Amino acid sequence: MEAYLLEFGNLLIRWLHVIAAIAWLGESIYFVMLDNGLKPPKGEACKKKGVFGEMWAVHGGGFYHNQKYASSPEDLPEDLHWSFWKAYTTWLSGFGLFTLLYLTKPSFYLVNRNSPWEWAANMTGTQANIAALAFLLLGWIIYNELCKRISPNMTRDGILSIAVAVMMVVVAYLSTHIFSGRAAFLLTGAVMATAMSANVFFWIIPGQRRMVNAMKAGEKPNPIDGLRGKQRSVHNTYFTLPVVLLMLSNHYAFTFTHSLSWVIMVLFIFAGALIRQYFVLMHGGKIRPGYPIAGVALILVAVWIGAPTAKKAVQAPVTPVEQTQTSVAATDDATVEGEQADAGEAATEAAASGAVTLAQVETIMNNRCVECHAVNPTQAGFAAAPLGILLDSPKEILLQADHIKQVVASKYMPLGNMTQMTDEERDMIAAWNGQ
Ligand code: HEC
Repeated sequence: MEAYLLEFGNLLIRWLHVIAAIAWLGESIYFVMLDNGLKPPKGEACKKKGVFGEMWAVHGGGFYHNQKYASSPEDLPEDLHWSFWKAYTTWLSGFGLFTLLYLTKPSFYLVNRNSPWEWAANMTGTQANIAALAFLLLGWIIYNELCKRISPNMTRDGILSIAVAVMMVVVAYLSTHIFSGRAAFLLTGAVMATAMSANVFFWIIPGQRRMVNAMKAGEKPNPIDGLRGKQRSVHNTYFTLPVVLLMLSNHYAFTFTHSLSWVIMVLFIFAGALIRQYFVLMHGGKIRPGYPIAGVALILVAVWIGAPTAKKAVQAPVTPVEQTQTSVAATDDATVEGEQADAGEAATEAAASGAVTLAQVETIMNNRCVECHAVNPTQAGFAAAPLGILLDSPKEILLQADHIKQVVASKYMPLGNMTQMTDEERDMIAAWNGQ
């Protein structure tokens, strides 16, 4: 019952999170479009008032006339519309989801048992939780320091962008090495999303408050507040597409179970930023197809890197000896070292005595998978079969054959190797022809 309620809570918080994110990112995209699409104002009256640019729009059966002031407008109304709750709600609901899913089950979802770094592979659940929270916090601190030190007066924003890009490569590398693949994608996305919300909370909104207060007091606002707000808001613009892609990727095992998942993640981040750049320029009237073409090219590289090797190898009609090699290659791909000789032998035997049979696979599923992948999982904390994937009958196993081979080869499953699947068993699955 408790697991069921947690899952229901998960669904509802996810709903809130997605809606808040749509509202926030939608508004962010809208304002970038508005800012870049402004035309010089027509009419002397506007110019006299200090209007710098305007945009006429038609939407929902009405006509809208937006005007942006170059400096402080003469009189500022009391009922200014502020944008911040959408950002805070997105972050808070995202953190709520992360807590509910990952922090309550760190040994399933956070710990990377296949990490090449021993200390990471051997973390306890509590250590993994602390590491994940520290990762988020440090991500913000380092990003914020980079901004403050490299471009405090917004005069070196180009160099700053390069530094932030390098930082994201490091974050991707570290996250995939410290945390399980799925958590790594989530946490890298969350480092960017946290920077985005914290930019709003610590810089953009306080800066705007100072500007408004100055105007109300009849003083000139400090221009640095406006410039800094713009700097952070530009970063947020380029984070939006990558964050969403990483958040979605963690529902696709082929992205995060790959041994080069950090490269895939980096390609996604840069692809997202490049594609965003196209739209930013387009709203300003410049069409630069080179950006999305470069973005798509990066995604194609990710498709190429992520292509499953194990599947290809096992599908080919092979002699027993070749089959051993391919199954070893499959394990190799998942960055596993040692013990391959033994495992290889087991697979050779299986292969030599004819192919691995469905009955053998069924036995493995029964021993290692059905604890979770059954209508009523016996594993504590699982209310229903994860993602609806049932592995408790030959029919279902056949249905999932490709999927099973992929997640077993990459060692994503069994989750956290809770059920202690052996390398021999993994090789049997790799050698199985899926029938
Ligand atoms: C401790 C519980 C547990 C065990 C044991 C387990 N799984 Fe899973 N499995 C999960 C969870 C949770 C998910 C969903 C993860 C997600 O949302 O990405 C999952 C997802 C999957 C997926 C879908 C992956 C994707 O995202 O496309 C496959 C396939 C799968 N498991 C196969 C297996 C196989 C095969 C075994 C046994 C070798 C196994 N699982 C053992 C919990 C488990």
